[in-house]
Amino acid sequence: MDSPLLGPNHHVSFNKFNRKFFLCFLLLFVAVTTIVGLGVRGNISFWILKGTERYNEGKTANQGHVIESELGVVAADDARCSAVGVSMLRLGGHAVDAAVAAALCAGVVFQASSGIGGGSFMVVKSSSSSKAQAFDMRETAPLAASQNMYQTDPEAKFLGALSVGVPGELAGLHAAWLKHGRLPWKTLFQPAIGLAKNGFTVSPTLEEYLANDENKIMSDPGLRNIYAPNGTLLKGGEVCSNVELGKSLEILAEEGPQAFYNGTIGEKLVKDVTEVGGILTVEDLRNYKVEITDAMTVNVMGYTIHGMPPPSSGTLALSLVLNILDSYESPDSVKGNLGIHRLIEALKHTFAIRMNLGDPDFENISGTSSEMLSRSFAQTIQRQILDNTTFPPEYYMDRWSQLRDHGTSHLCVVDADRNAVSLTTSVNWHFGAGIRSTSTGIVVNNEMDDFSTPTDISPDKLPPAPTNFIEPNKRPLSSMTPIIITKVLLAACLLRIWHFRGDFQI
Ligand SMILES: *[C@@H]1O[C@H](CO)[C@@H](O)[C@H](O)[C@H]1NC(C)=O
Ligand SMILES: *[C@@H]1O[C@H](CO)[C@@H](O)[C@H](O)[C@H]1NC(C)=O
Ligand SMILES: *[C@@H]1O[C@H](CO)[C@@H](O)[C@H](O)[C@H]1NC(C)=O
Ligand SMILES: *[C@@H]1O[C@H](CO)[C@@H](O)[C@H](O)[C@H]1NC(C)=O
Repeated sequence: MDSPLLGPNHHVSFNKFNRKFFLCFLLLFVAVTTIVGLGVRGNISFWILKGTERYNEGKTANQGHVIESELGVVAADDARCSAVGVSMLRLGGHAVDAAVAAALCAGVVFQASSGIGGGSFMVVKSSSSSKAQAFDMRETAPLAASQNMYQTDPEAKFLGALSVGVPGELAGLHAAWLKHGRLPWKTLFQPAIGLAKNGFTVSPTLEEYLANDENKIMSDPGLRNIYAPNGTLLKGGEVCSNVELGKSLEILAEEGPQAFYNGTIGEKLVKDVTEVGGILTVEDLRNYKVEITDAMTVNVMGYTIHGMPPPSSGTLALSLVLNILDSYESPDSVKGNLGIHRLIEALKHTFAIRMNLGDPDFENISGTSSEMLSRSFAQTIQRQILDNTTFPPEYYMDRWSQLRDHGTSHLCVVDADRNAVSLTTSVNWHFGAGIRSTSTGIVVNNEMDDFSTPTDISPDKLPPAPTNFIEPNKRPLSSMTPIIITKVLLAACLLRIWHFRGDFQI
């Protein structure tokens, strides 16, 4: 990309993207979509933000790939949350202010996939620095968790109170705001509080998710109360309110995250989770630490990708896949059906290798990390990919059984100063553990399911991955891949694919 995406004198049209960039775009599209196991379905549409005009002009993808603005761009799964982010930029907010407000909004209107009962990865690129920062606010295993805790009841790993990891979302959003925010903390909460207390219209996607998870909703009083208030599931277009969540957000807006991590909201949440059999404690919340590091930076295909270090496998996997494909002589060699074949084969190898990763605070994964970043390793794999055939699973050197993780929400922000944020937030499966705390209105995650367990063995499966076994305070391996791509200094392209049906927003 020769010129930045933003700025009055730098109109970037699709035709000016050079072919390599477009190739990279396509590959990332496929790679990221596949890695998180999500699909973009329905009508693909772009939302265009231009100066002080409306944030949503509803342009469709084939009408243009241009996002241009002097104010900034916010893209969330739900257009209402993009608008919330934009409102923060209009108040003079930093990209991080917009991201926090939009994430809080998503945690209300799209509680199926995100919220303060979950966790996130956030990459922040300041325009003044060539480096990006990574905020790891992923859930951790509670202190009372242990490797074999699901031995007698494997379902408890993904459904119910034992599947709950210590939520990190709010602590992480606050940490990012402390470093970069310009607006008052409580300003960021006002739109989300309004939506939760006054009610919001159920989107077609939420309607679909509710219907898919009817049993989960109906068997939990907290979820049932708000999503089936009259005994039947809400439909798209009907209004849903989450008054308890609104009240919790009001307190957190006033008192800050300590009300959650060392105060009344946390105590109430722990009580609700304990009552249905959980092991989460107030001490777990007090112990929670956001990890702030330099983003992992990799240079591939002439671009710089700033992403999350482990326990996210995302940046490493993306780098390996792109380096494998870049090992072919020309960009044309990854085009068409043959290109798709090569991509799929590259992904199979990458998925096999990524299961050797885990939380670097607990496991020595430096060998695997450097392999996944190495160009010569990528070339070795590329030579193992044949154009005329595919192979039985053993060929891809799978040692450990795969995790099948899914279910996230994503948002990107670039502000007028070209500060950029890429944030992927999750409660893991839709509606997380299937528990909405009745006193706080918070849906809790089932992120413990992203760990591997030694007892999860069967004759038709590979053994579970030891680097991803449960330990108190450990974070489970993740495939979430928030990234910021830069070419020239100050040019930022944010890219991530997500799954709000019918809306693909950049
Ligand atoms: C539920 O019932 C209440 C009171 O009977 C009514 O006001 C409301 O419109 C109903 N909501 C839905 C979604 O049917
Ligand atoms: C928790 O709050 C108490 C006061 O209620 C305070 O003394 C203590 O330092 C706090 N702990 C942490 C970890 O913030
Ligand atoms: C971690 O593993 C690498 C090889 O994979 C080894 O060279 C290194 O010494 C190990 N580090 C520690 C702290 O054990
Ligand atoms: C596939 O291609 C390889 C060389 O690239 C060749 O050795 C092999 O015979 C081919 N296999 C088939 C089934 O055509």
